[in-house]
Amino acid sequence: MRICCIGAGYVGGPTMTVIAHKCPDIRVDVVDINKARVDAWNSDNLPVFEPGLAEIVSEVRGRNLFFSNDVDAAIEAADIVFISVNTPTKTYGHGAGSASDLSFVESCARRIAEVSKSGKIVVEKSTMPVRTADVIKTILNTTGLGFQVLSNPEFLAEGTAIADLKSPDRVLIGGDEDSEEGRKAIATLSSVYERWIPAERIIKTNLWSSELSKLTANAFLAQRISSINAISALCEATGADVQQVAKAVGSDSRIGPKFLNASIGYGGSCFQKDLLNLVYLCEHFNLPEVAKYWRGVSDMNRYQKSRFSRQVVDCLFRNIMGKRLAIWGFAFKENTNDTRESPAIDICRDFLAENAKLAFYDPKVSEEQIRKDLCLTVDDPRVEFCKTPYEAAENAHAIILLTQWEEFKNLDYKRIKKAMMTPAWIFDGRNSLDHRLLLDLGFLLRGIGKGNLS
Ligand code: UDX
Ligand code: ADP
Repeated sequence: MRICCIGAGYVGGPTMTVIAHKCPDIRVDVVDINKARVDAWNSDNLPVFEPGLAEIVSEVRGRNLFFSNDVDAAIEAADIVFISVNTPTKTYGHGAGSASDLSFVESCARRIAEVSKSGKIVVEKSTMPVRTADVIKTILNTTGLGFQVLSNPEFLAEGTAIADLKSPDRVLIGGDEDSEEGRKAIATLSSVYERWIPAERIIKTNLWSSELSKLTANAFLAQRISSINAISALCEATGADVQQVAKAVGSDSRIGPKFLNASIGYGGSCFQKDLLNLVYLCEHFNLPEVAKYWRGVSDMNRYQKSRFSRQVVDCLFRNIMGKRLAIWGFAFKENTNDTRESPAIDICRDFLAENAKLAFYDPKVSEEQIRKDLCLTVDDPRVEFCKTPYEAAENAHAIILLTQWEEFKNLDYKRIKKAMMTPAWIFDGRNSLDHRLLLDLGFLLRGIGKGNLS
């Protein structure tokens, strides 16, 4: 059996690496039109940072895992073709700001139709809006070669992708359950996963249930974060502590403890996009009340980010012009170099609008990426990029912790306090530091949903 994956991104790269690792008898070709990305996958400096990924890539690359730009050859030779390209939110025309841009998916489907000499199993891997399979099917059916389209959404979370892929809660495969060929295609894909995942964890559904389940799972997760973030605002007003509330609430086994960490807001490439997709779908099917309900989750996320940046400005005497702020962390979460939809982007934009000076430190995000996300020129005098969190904090009026990197927990805060301006503020946007210790050292401090700590 041969597998081809179109798109060597955050989803395609790690997913195919684990498939190749678990199935040594299957040749896996990951192809991409972006030459620099493919070159990076073939180098020691992988384009995606994920704990444990580099080790497995070095084991399987060149054995049964190959990265290349030769899209056509890989499609032609494959029995199963995964489509794992980007599906960003549309920025133009009908549905701009909420619908997904399917042009990359469509061009993949056209390419598959053009170069294939026999029917294949085509798998939607990237997050797709519901009924995207229809688009792919319609294009492939023009060939008369007998393709089968499956939906196999990815549930990996960045930062824990390898562990999630090796031991997923479930694998979802949607296909045409009503036809013999459809059932056969589902079974073929299932047999790949069954090599390392117990069969009872592989859920088989029709195409539309699979596509909608992915959107719904992400919407529910985002909703939990917006719910606890909404309560964090109330905690700050009333003197309750959001972590204590989350613990008490999450101890109810019907609710559960996960995804109840109040924060500066969720980020990442999936939550916002999938929520907007859901909203678009509801509006399309004339369900305005349902659309409004889910839009509220996204509105709360926006509110949480702006509430945080306003609080920083307010605490620094409502004036941050010319003041140095140490920005600790820029990735949307820890253990990834991904900044897509990172709450840090909106928050830093707010600070720049107030003409603050920003000194960045993130262990994995490049200077180039931060400049790109904030639309900064190379000679913008308001920003500085630092090699250590200590350097960023030097002469700073405040430390703004935006990503909960583990290394921030174990720094020499006495040394940091000495190097900062007075009063020395810390805004812990992830409630991840030892607040008692910082207060004892004389820092002024704000967490999320913690009321007045100092
Ligand atoms: C998410 C889903 O978890 C995954 O199943 C899906 O396939 C893709 O989208 P990802 O975006 O990679 O994964 O990371 P996730 O761990 O879900 O975090 C998303 C955002 O929510 C991050 O910005 C994170 O910091 C934030 N978050 C998460 C909170 O603010 N509080 C929490 O309690 C959990
Ligand atoms: P994800 O997080 O979904 O993996 P990424 O943006 O990280 O998204 O990766 C998607 C990849 O798909 C990019 O590297 C992009 O170059 C690639 N891609 C987009 N369209 C095509 C196409 N038609 N053929 C091959 N690769 C494509």
